[in-house]
Amino acid sequence: MAKLLTVQGGKPLEGSVHVRGAKNLVPKAMVAALLGSEPSQLRNVPEIKDVEIVTNLLQIHGVKVDADPATGDLTLDPRDTYSAAHSEIDAYAGDSRIPILFCGPLMHQNGEAFIPDLGGCRIGDRPINYHLEVLRNFGAVVDKTPTGIHISAPRGLKGAKLTLPFPSVGATEQVLLTAVLAEGITELDNAAVEPEIHDLIAILQQMGAIITVFTDRVIRIEGVERLSGYRHRAIPDRNESASWASAALVTQGDIYVKGAAQRDLTAFLNTYRKIGGEFSVDDEGIRFWHAGHPLKPLVLETDVHPGFMTDWQQPLVVALTQAHGVSIVHETVYENRFGFTEALERMGASIQLHRECLGSSPCRFGQRNFLHSAVISGPVELKGAEINVPDLRGGFSHLIAALAAKGTSTVTGIEVINRGYEHFMDKLVGLGADVEMSER
Ligand code: EPZ
Repeated sequence: MAKLLTVQGGKPLEGSVHVRGAKNLVPKAMVAALLGSEPSQLRNVPEIKDVEIVTNLLQIHGVKVDADPATGDLTLDPRDTYSAAHSEIDAYAGDSRIPILFCGPLMHQNGEAFIPDLGGCRIGDRPINYHLEVLRNFGAVVDKTPTGIHISAPRGLKGAKLTLPFPSVGATEQVLLTAVLAEGITELDNAAVEPEIHDLIAILQQMGAIITVFTDRVIRIEGVERLSGYRHRAIPDRNESASWASAALVTQGDIYVKGAAQRDLTAFLNTYRKIGGEFSVDDEGIRFWHAGHPLKPLVLETDVHPGFMTDWQQPLVVALTQAHGVSIVHETVYENRFGFTEALERMGASIQLHRECLGSSPCRFGQRNFLHSAVISGPVELKGAEINVPDLRGGFSHLIAALAAKGTSTVTGIEVINRGYEHFMDKLVGLGADVEMSER
């Protein structure tokens, strides 16, 4: 039986939601515990699918995981780690990309690691060539097998001088999780510097690592022989915070996001204000609301941090369908992240996709066959429709479009949203949404 969500649109979302730890940090922090010779404690852990997947993967490698979902506290004890069967890893990896980040820690612990075919949102090809390249530079041996990739370190892992072709978050995390116990010094150029990267560095430093971040995307890691455990509170999920902010704008509502942190949302808040959204910051969170004025169009380009983040793009595009005029969005991080606009067009949105780089600077996808720029004309009246969720952020965007639309929408594939939005149904109902979940 599949879940079906029925949405009666037209009601503003009003009230407050509580955002906990970041989906794009917590699973990596859990993997980092594997590097330790003592237990670690992680707090502010959300109840999301990705945490469940990593918990299972850690447990099949012998890590004792003790979770308290109500408080968000997690204890991870890696003292009896062992290799897991490839079939088990494959079975538990599910639809996540996290297994690739187990490589460094498992090679340090067991001398080998296995990567099954990876999942993750279908928003681009999402190759792992940077990951394999940096692992080879540490001295790892990479063997592609019919069921996945086997990685080993017969002569141990040694520090290296590395440069990423693009400041990839995952590849930077791969380097951090491998270099901290590698012999000697690693220098990584063109590194990712997202808030989640800095939070992972804070965790590794607590464990005993020596990591220096220089201004120009250079990170230097001095390998050590042993790491202990950590006690850490995960940073809040800035992507979930930005999603609820867009929901307030799209439904002409007013939402207080408890846990949202201004320091991680600077680029988003600037854009939010330019469109005509209002926000106010206090010590506990940020309130976002529609001020009742017509929304203004704009030209937006996604980028790596500290630019406007690609994961904020999809929910905000729904708000731009309500802006008075023509907006342009140039997606420069993923080549195929506008698939979700097809459903919005069926709901009445006016969105044209283009292969050209319709932004201030040409990107990697220019002159290639990728529809990675969107021209959005508004305002339009959105009407209810039948929707199938394509990916995590696209799914949340469809939800808020259905909540703003005239009439009834039915949404399938809703489980995908559980991967990154904790208790989203309870939160929607708490905000006054007219939604009903059923099976069919
Ligand atoms: C992380 O993905 C996040 N996921 C993504 O969030 C986020 O969009 C992305 O970083 C960028 O900020 C998690 O943290 C779990 P990348 P990641 O490596 O690490 C190319 C969400 O909705 N690339 O920075 O997989 C890649 O194809 C998700 O929460 C290679 O070509 O992203 C992409 O075009 C979606 N080869 C670009 O780099 C490689 O080996 C950025 O990818 C690795 C990446």
